Amino acid sequence: MVRQVIHKIDKINKIKGELNLPGDKSISHRAVMFSSLAKGESIVRNFLNSADVISTINCFRELGCEITIDNPNLKIKGRGFKGFTKPINKLDAGNSGTTTRLISGILAAQDFETTIIGDESLSKRPMNRIVDPLTEMSAILKPSTDGTLPMTIYPSSNLHSIEFDMNVASAQVKSAVLLAALHLEDETIVVEHAKTRNHTETLLGLRVKEDENHRKIFVSKFDYPQAKEYIVPSDISTASFFIILTLLTKQSELCLKNVLLNETRNGIIKVLNQMNANIQVENEAEINGEKSGDLIIKSSSLSNAEIEKDIVPNIIDEIPILSVAGIFAEGKFVVRNAKELRYKESDRISAMCDNYKKLGLTCNEFDDGFEVFGEIKNNNVLIETCDDHRIAMAFSILGMLTDKQIEINNFECVSVSNPEFLNQLKAIAQ
Ligand code: S3P
Repeated sequence: MVRQVIHKIDKINKIKGELNLPGDKSISHRAVMFSSLAKGESIVRNFLNSADVISTINCFRELGCEITIDNPNLKIKGRGFKGFTKPINKLDAGNSGTTTRLISGILAAQDFETTIIGDESLSKRPMNRIVDPLTEMSAILKPSTDGTLPMTIYPSSNLHSIEFDMNVASAQVKSAVLLAALHLEDETIVVEHAKTRNHTETLLGLRVKEDENHRKIFVSKFDYPQAKEYIVPSDISTASFFIILTLLTKQSELCLKNVLLNETRNGIIKVLNQMNANIQVENEAEINGEKSGDLIIKSSSLSNAEIEKDIVPNIIDEIPILSVAGIFAEGKFVVRNAKELRYKESDRISAMCDNYKKLGLTCNEFDDGFEVFGEIKNNNVLIETCDDHRIAMAFSILGMLTDKQIEINNFECVSVSNPEFLNQLKAIAQ
C-alpha cells in the first residue's frame, strides 16, 4: 500500500529573497524527446528533475537511448531517424500525460509494437483525443475499451500526412500529430483555433502561419531534429505558486531568476497584472526561440478581474493557484470556458470546489469552471489532493496565507513537477 503523507501547513509572515527555480516541465519533456530522436549527442541544461520528466527519460532509455543525468543537466545519445530499438518492457509513463501523448505520436511511426501504461490517475485520462487524429494518419493505436491506458501502438505500413483541424485546445494533441508527421515525406498541416503552448513548433523551428482566427503549423521529415544544446528556462507554472504567495504576503519581495516568458505561457502574469499585481520583468533574454526574464514580485492588494475566454488555454495549469489568489482578492473569483480542467491529473474543477467548500467558502461548480468567494471559516481542514501536484501546491500556498490550520493529504505528489517545493519555500520564508 502507498504511504500517504499528511503535511501540516503554517502561515508565513514574510517572503524575501531570490530563487532559481528548476527548468520548465513542458520544455524539459520535449528536449528529452527531440534529443532522443536526433542522431548523436545532445545536452539539456537546467532540465526539470521531477517524476514526470524522469518518466519520459525512462521511456527513451527503454527505446535504446543512453541518457546520463548530471543534475541539472542531461547528456543524451539519440538514435536518429527510426533508430529506436523495440523495448523489452511496457513503457511506463507514470503520472505524465505529456509523456504519453507525445510519445504516442513518435511510436505510431516506428516499425515495432509498444504498449504504454501509467499510474491510476493517468490510466483514467482520455486518449481518444490523440487516437482519432493519429488513426486518420493510418496509425494503429489500441487503447483500452474506455479509451484509456494501457494502449498498444502497432507498426503501420501506410502512415500518411493529413491536414488536422484541431477540435480540442490541447498542446499534447497538437504535438502528438506533429511528432508522427516528422517521420513523413509529405507535409502535414495542423490548424489550431485556440492558441495552446507552442514549444513543439518553436523548438523544432516549424513553419507557422498565423492570422486572427487560427494558426497553421507545417511539418514533414525535413524538420526532423538534429543533435544540439537545449537550455531550459525556469518553469512559469512552478513560479506562479511563489508569485502568488509573495503578492499576498505583507512586506514581501521576491526575485525569480530566468523564468520562461513564452507568450503562450505568460498569461498568468497578464491576469495578475490586471488584478493589480506588482510584477516587474528584468533581464529579458531569448534562447532556442524561448523567451525568459527575471521577475521581481512585491506584495500587492489584489482585485479579481474577468478571465477572458482566449487566455484560458494559456493559464490552464495555473488556474488552481490563480483561484487561491482570487479568494484573497477583492470581489468574486470566476473562471469559465475551462472544461479542460476536468481532464488533468485530477478533475481539477471538482477537486478545487470540494476543498473550497470544506474550508467554508461559497463555491459554485459549473460544467466548464467555478466561482468562489467569502471567508475561510473552518479550522483544521484536511485537503484532499486527489494525488494531483497542482492541487497540493495550490492549497499549501492557501495554508501559508491563512491563520486557520490546514493539512494536505498525499502531499508527496508535489514531486511530479517540483520535488524541491518545500526547500525552495524554506529559502525565502522569514
Ligand atoms: C502540456 C500541455 C497542457 C498542460 C500540461 C502540459 C504540454 O495540456 O496542461 O500540463 O507540455 O504539452 P493540454 O495538452 O491539455 O494543452
